[in-house]
Amino acid sequence: MGKKPARKKIAKKAASVNLNGKDLVSINQLDKAEILGIINEARKFEKLSPAKKLKILGGKVIATLFFEPSTRTKLSFQTAVQRLGGNVIGFDSIDSTSLKKGESFSDTIKIIDNYADAIVIRHPENGAAEKAAEIARIPVINAGDGWNEHPTQALTDIFTMQKEFGKIEGLTIGFLGDLLYGRTVRSLSQALLHFNPKKFYLISPQALKMENKIVDKLRGKVEVVELEKLDDCLAELDVLYVTRIQKERFKFESAYEQLKGSYSVGPEILKRAKKGIRIMHPLPRIGEIDPELDKYEQATYFRQAANGVFLREALMKMIVGGK
Ligand code: NCD
Repeated sequence: MGKKPARKKIAKKAASVNLNGKDLVSINQLDKAEILGIINEARKFEKLSPAKKLKILGGKVIATLFFEPSTRTKLSFQTAVQRLGGNVIGFDSIDSTSLKKGESFSDTIKIIDNYADAIVIRHPENGAAEKAAEIARIPVINAGDGWNEHPTQALTDIFTMQKEFGKIEGLTIGFLGDLLYGRTVRSLSQALLHFNPKKFYLISPQALKMENKIVDKLRGKVEVVELEKLDDCLAELDVLYVTRIQKERFKFESAYEQLKGSYSVGPEILKRAKKGIRIMHPLPRIGEIDPELDKYEQATYFRQAANGVFLREALMKMIVGGK
């Protein structure tokens, strides 16, 4: 059995961005040069012809293991792989697998390690992608682990900011919603620290504040203001990044019921916001954004979701496709 090269070492080599054969379980494994390298590659994929794309994966097999529901992440990965001439195997829930019979997570990963060329995994437990990466020799990409991380969404979001503003540096960003259980904001806010953000506003109900350990890390690099009301910062924002309350992470449904509907963004906010504000959301939205907002240029979330395919094409090429 061949050994996978150590993950950490590559992150230090900023000059030559080489992610071939590497895992991506945390956004913190990537340095600025690597993030920019991925985004530049995604830009190229936006323009590359379908015929050229088709040669990149040369029939490689990618396993998408989804232990949790997904629309965008799963289907954009699967689209990316197939547009690059690869094949997809996998599952959408454990019901059709031997996990249902009681097979261990570890055995499942060991088996797939011999069938596929890379694993894309989403799992309800924090740390599950890291665990899979320790077991598998093939690259493992985290498509969301519990309320921990979602690195490929963070890359998609940064790619989107770069396209919308022509730059990533110096932005004032308001993160609104479930900042405790929202894994996308945890990955994105940390990734943005490479790009000298001007200011972060963390806007959430008290019960859904971002974990202190992450806030402390952010504060080391950027001015962070925690708020409960969007109105208190709206006029300053370049980006309003809205998130869904993560119902599935609550122990008690009653706690969720109390918080649901505690914020909602509609076209009226545009009157008080900067003209060029970009409203982003990883989606799905469950009432936090009024569909009436969709027709405005400032509503960025559908473009953001579309960018996810190019970003994942780039990642697949860099991690699985070789040089
Ligand atoms: C997010 C996720 O799964 O973390 N969705 C996504 O991947 N685009 C956000 C969410 O579920 O609220």
